[in-house]
Amino acid sequence: MSVDIDSITRDLEKDLDLSRFGVVPLHELSVKMIQDDAEIREFLEVCVKQLGTSPETAIEVGVWKGGTHIVFRRLFKKVISIEEKDVTALTVARTIVEPERSVMVLRDSASPETRAVLDNHLAGRKVDMLFIDGDHSKDGVTSDWLLYHAFVRRGGIVAFHDTAGSWKGVSEFISELREGRWTEEPLRLIDIDSGARMGISYYVVR
Ligand SMILES: C[S@@+](CC[C@H](N)C(=O)[O-])C[C@H]1O[C@@H](n2cnc3c(N)ncnc32)[C@H](O)[C@@H]1O
Repeated sequence: MSVDIDSITRDLEKDLDLSRFGVVPLHELSVKMIQDDAEIREFLEVCVKQLGTSPETAIEVGVWKGGTHIVFRRLFKKVISIEEKDVTALTVARTIVEPERSVMVLRDSASPETRAVLDNHLAGRKVDMLFIDGDHSKDGVTSDWLLYHAFVRRGGIVAFHDTAGSWKGVSEFISELREGRWTEEPLRLIDIDSGARMGISYYVVR
């Protein structure tokens, strides 16, 4: 079965039940994403190839204006998103169809209590994908990886955004993962880099 990646990345409005807001246009809800189109598209293709066309669950750290949450929902049956600030995420969650497929955890991802919220929610079930795009400091990205990577099943994907050099802390942590500083074996990370100074790097859990 093929998946129309174009429709996943472009048709954000299809997931929004705008009728609840009368005629409020999408841009007034400010649903946006900070991704390079070519990179997020390639990453979705990687997900389809590795996880199939209807994977169960993704965890996203860092929602901002909801765009990636909605995009990931078009592939995954459920998306659990963690965000400490942006209330757009909550607006989006209340607006989309099938709200049971969106879990918004509006908390600091670095807090162990937030990890406990996910522990309770998942009750031992593993997820298919983790997308880390929250606090871009070295400590922040390290903490997100440490707290959440073990939720991903074998054969699942752990991905980081903004790995192409603009965010020093993220790049440093990715290098350390490659050198094997945090794991028994060095991790084989693959880079998706269109040259837009963003970049997505990911590895498959072995
Ligand atoms: C780069 S934006 C996310 C972009 C989004 N994934 C997209 O592609 O459109 C980073 C988000 O992470 C959130 N954030 C930063 N530190 C956080 C933390 N410690 N816990 C939860 N969210 C955090 C910020 O509030 C911001 O909304």
